[in-house]
Amino acid sequence: MRKDNALANELWLAACLHIGERAHDRVLLNQYLKWAGKTGADILIMGDALDTGLCLGTKHIGSIWQNDRTPQQQIDDFCGLFNPLKRQILGILGGNHELRAERVTSINPLYQSAQRLGVPYWGASKIFRWNKKIIFASHGATTAPLTDFNKVLHAYEGLDAICLAHTHALLHHSLRRFVAFPDGTVKDKRILFVRSGNFLKDAEYARYALHAPTDTGSAILEFKDNSKLGVRLGL
Ligand SMILES: [Fe+2]
Repeated sequence: MRKDNALANELWLAACLHIGERAHDRVLLNQYLKWAGKTGADILIMGDALDTGLCLGTKHIGSIWQNDRTPQQQIDDFCGLFNPLKRQILGILGGNHELRAERVTSINPLYQSAQRLGVPYWGASKIFRWNKKIIFASHGATTAPLTDFNKVLHAYEGLDAICLAHTHALLHHSLRRFVAFPDGTVKDKRILFVRSGNFLKDAEYARYALHAPTDTGSAILEFKDNSKLGVRLGL
């Protein structure tokens, strides 16, 4: 584990763990946890960490029958797995699965987990500085490939990377932009788009929804020696 408060040069975008879903891939998650423990990588939890199947609710209800752990057990599992790495966690973002419980009870199990671990809970979205780069991160809301990215681009200026989850895709690409300065000069810039992956092997709901299978695992942001941002897909 990293001993100081300096940022690492790798950031694990830990999205859509779906702890408690029958199809949650604990073997794969354990590989990432081991890697993070060894390297001291920074960690961002990006929502849907807990599957939170409920038997009632208003939207995205899910099903307790697709879960093999109760919401309380999911909190216990998550906190137990990440407790040894809590000093590396920059923050925890919420996802629509944890919102299932909040909508019904006002209690968000991921907020409770953040409190227990003593790490920041960032809710719906967060802009933060990481190794001199400005990162926007959110779980994401829509399944269309570019809709969420375009929404963020319309809302914010000055971002170096937009990191989302939700679709379970594991991919990245970049966009070229011209940035105009007050003296009339224009400079080129690239904005990185990342969809951060998932830890679900072959969920039944995805089969019923006819979702294409996605690669599992996470995207990892890298701060390179040339001060540029890069992305690695998988360990
Ligand atoms: Fe998810």
